[in-house]
Amino acid sequence: MSKKLYCVFGKPIKHSLSPIIHNYFGKKNNIFLYYNAINIFNKIKLIKEWITFLKINGIGINVTIPYKQYAIKLAEKLSYRSKISQSVNTLIIDKKNNLIYGDTTDGVGLIRDFHRLKIKVLKKRILLLGAGGAINSILQQLLDLGPNKIYIVNRTLLKCKEIINRFNIKNIMNFCSYNDLKNKKPFDIIINGTSLSLKKEKIFLYKNIFKKKSIAYDLMYSKKITNFLKIAIKYNAKIYDGLGMLIEQAAETFYLLNNVRPKTKKLHIKIRNLLNNY
Ligand code: ATR
Repeated sequence: MSKKLYCVFGKPIKHSLSPIIHNYFGKKNNIFLYYNAINIFNKIKLIKEWITFLKINGIGINVTIPYKQYAIKLAEKLSYRSKISQSVNTLIIDKKNNLIYGDTTDGVGLIRDFHRLKIKVLKKRILLLGAGGAINSILQQLLDLGPNKIYIVNRTLLKCKEIINRFNIKNIMNFCSYNDLKNKKPFDIIINGTSLSLKKEKIFLYKNIFKKKSIAYDLMYSKKITNFLKIAIKYNAKIYDGLGMLIEQAAETFYLLNNVRPKTKKLHIKIRNLLNNY
């Protein structure tokens, strides 16, 4: 039996957990695969690697930061969730229809992780930090779960306006500056989608946006606790990082590429231990 070839493109990619996750799914489901992580230091390299990948008869790729938006250009057809979020994290080589199909599994990944963690969105007051690719890729799935209100906060307010118009959600969504947060009531769920955690920069958040048992979820994850989650602990929130989302989005991508839905329960423990011992 020949190996199914797929890989992830991103920068930085050295510590990517995706090869471990996909190899685990492959083993557990008797799918023989080879999954590689490729460091893509610029867009020219991305095109070159993509052409090579097409030549070697791969089944598809994952795309991660910072190319999720740019990868839209490589797709000939986009899923609804990719179109609305303007983001692609999975490119599938659809041989039957002879086209490249672009999709994003990030939003589904977050919602499945919320389900696992028993975090409810229905009628909840939500605050989103950031208005970049990460927030765009989860917004539709959050909206589908019927929140009461979503506030979006960003340094560049124009980006918030553009999101609210694109998703056509003026009735439940509003935006403000970080400074305006000092006048806001507490939120049930606060999600960090800024790139601050990756850059390890500091973030300032007013105490009043937290209440006891607010959920603080960082879309990023790292071995060390992120600055956002540090603040959340100080204000007594329940904290979660994005490692669970990573596993769940990978499971959805595995399903799209192999038509098999992998079980994830045991993998959450395994990957957490692995990250802690990195
Ligand atoms: P990603 O695809 O990871 O979301 P991005 O599209 O570059 O990356 O978006 C990064 C987000 O982090 C943006 O919302 C950005 O704010 P701006 O749109 O105002 O640039 C936010 N961000 C990055 N550095 C920040 C900082 N020092 N303080 C606050 N927000 C920051």
